[in-house]
This record gives sequence, structure tokens and C-alpha cells, in this order.
Amino acid sequence: MSKESPPPVVLTCAQPSGQLHLGNYFGAIRHWARLVESHTCFFGIVDLHAITVPYIPAELRKATYRSLALYIACGLDPKKCHLFCQSHVIGHTELAWILGALCPIGQLERMTQFKDKSQRAESSFIGSGLLNYPLLMAADILLYNADLVPVGEDQKQHVELCRDLAQKFNQTYSETFKVPDLHIPRTGARIKSLQDPEKKMSKSDPTQSGCLYLLDPPETLRKKVRSAVTDSGSEIRATEEKPGISNLLTLLSACSGRAVSDLESEFDGAGYGTFKDTVADAVIEAVKPIQERYAEIHEDKGYLDEVFKEGAGKAQQRAYRMLSKVYRKAGFVSRT
Ligand code: TRP
Repeated sequence: MSKESPPPVVLTCAQPSGQLHLGNYFGAIRHWARLVESHTCFFGIVDLHAITVPYIPAELRKATYRSLALYIACGLDPKKCHLFCQSHVIGHTELAWILGALCPIGQLERMTQFKDKSQRAESSFIGSGLLNYPLLMAADILLYNADLVPVGEDQKQHVELCRDLAQKFNQTYSETFKVPDLHIPRTGARIKSLQDPEKKMSKSDPTQSGCLYLLDPPETLRKKVRSAVTDSGSEIRATEEKPGISNLLTLLSACSGRAVSDLESEFDGAGYGTFKDTVADAVIEAVKPIQERYAEIHEDKGYLDEVFKEGAGKAQQRAYRMLSKVYRKAGFVSRT
């Protein structure tokens, strides 16, 4: 990279669930926190996406603050990256509308997340917001003309749609958007459910004991680790026949920074009980600084509002530039 060229722009977003688990942390957030050192990073909390399924407004507001506090506690330093709330920035929904005009309905109907969510819907009501969800997500990305979009495997299809739409816009009007690169981090540890180690750790895990939340009290974390499913035999080895033990080894490795092979030799001959105790200790130790930082800031609305304000300011600058370009190309008369 030459000296003059600005750092590449990273954008990623997450819904304001108000909770994060160790899978989110080791699989994504720790990786984002490293990216801020060498990239211009925008991290959005996407409240507009959150209303595409039934929800409670007061809960959404709380969860949005909680999510922000959690990100900061996890090490996303607002001095080094732009943390913003989607609804604070004009342009996301505007651009989604324009992209919608270029997107065949069939392409949206074929999205696996739409199919899953509409099948799982608790009532017969399926809002068109759910169908249009990927348009808003494409707008989130293109509005910042992002170079890199770090997402999990489950969002790959949405990012591909975004790439299609960027190309389509460029062809229909003229070269406008960078076609962003999908960036699925390989480095992060993939933590699985403690109760069903074939599936990834998830907040929608039917047995909540399979999911370790960053804000779970130490005793809860210990209990969950202790009750993790293990495999037959007593060897502590990361092998395909031992998904439970492999998962605990991955978790211990992520928490302690030690290689799985080292851990295998250290626990050679030790029983599952001792091993699990060590895993629990390491998990508790790993989340401690996050919990401490969270405790300091989560009730400080003034501080959190300030972070949102700064983030929105920076995000809006970049968003307006792109939006006015898009409006011009689309043939809208400029507002003077
Ligand atoms: N759909 C993403 C998820 O559920 C969240 C998201 C919304 C997103 N807009 C985005 C992710 C833009 C990356 C870029 O995880």
C-alpha cells in the first residue's frame, strides 16, 4: 500500500441482541478489534433490521445500549473505530429503496435466511421487511463503499447479493460502487454448543446451557462447562469422534492462547472432571475484564450517547457522499 492511499474500509454490522456469547467473541469480535489497527472501521448496530420480526420497542432500545456497551467492553475502542446506530444515519433506507428497484423479487425469495425465518415465524404474519432485509443489508455495505465485509458463513449469501446489486447498479447507471470482498475470518475459533457440539454456539440454542454468554456470572459459566456433553472414552484429544472434547479444547485454547496440541499433552491421562474445571477457570478468567469494563460503562448513558453521536457523525459524512452520488446517477433533481 502506498503512503498516500487511505486505509481500506471495513464495515460490518450486527443486530442489537443485547447479548453476546463466547462464539461471537472468539469467532468475530476479537478479529474486528484487530482490524481497527490497520483499517478504517465502521461497526453498525442495525436496529432497522431488528424490526423485521415482532419485537418490543422498549426492549429494543435497551438492547441497543447493551450491545454498544458490550462491543466497547470487548475491546472495540470508539477512539479507533466508528461505532454507530443504523437508524441514526440517513441513507441506509434510502439506498435500500434504490437497490430494491434493481432487484428481482425471486432473488429475495430464494434467500435461505428469508425461507428459514418465514417458516419459523410464530404467527402467520410475515412482513415484507423480512423479504427486503437483504436489500437493507446491501445498502449498509454500499453506503460506505466498503472494501471488506467480515461476516460469518451464514451471511455469505447476503453479501453475494450485495455484490450482485453493486454490479447491477454500476452497469445500469455507471461505475459507482466498489464490489466489496466477502471476508470470512479463518483465524477465529469456531466455538460449538456445549450441549450439541455439532452445531455452532448460538443464542437460539434450545438448551440455554449450551451457550456461554459473556455476561453470565462465573458460577453460571462453571455450571454450563461442567454439564457440557462429553464423548465416550476418557481421552482428552481433538478428534472427529470426540466433538464434545474437541470443542472444549478449542474453547480452552481460545481462552488461554495455548495451542490445542499443547493442551492435549498436558491433559494426557487427566480425567474429564479435572479438564472441565480448567476450562471453566479459563473461561471465567477470559470474560473477567469484559465484565469489569461492561460494569463500568453500561449505565453511563451519557457516555454511550456520546459514542453513538460521534459514530453517527463520522458515518453520516461518508454516507451522504455516497448517497448524493447515487441520487445524481439515478436522475433525481438535486436539492439546492
Ligand atoms: N444480517 C447480519 C446478521 O444477521 C447483520 C447485518 C446487517 C450486516 N447489515 C450488515 C452484516 C452489513 C454485515 C454487513 O448477522
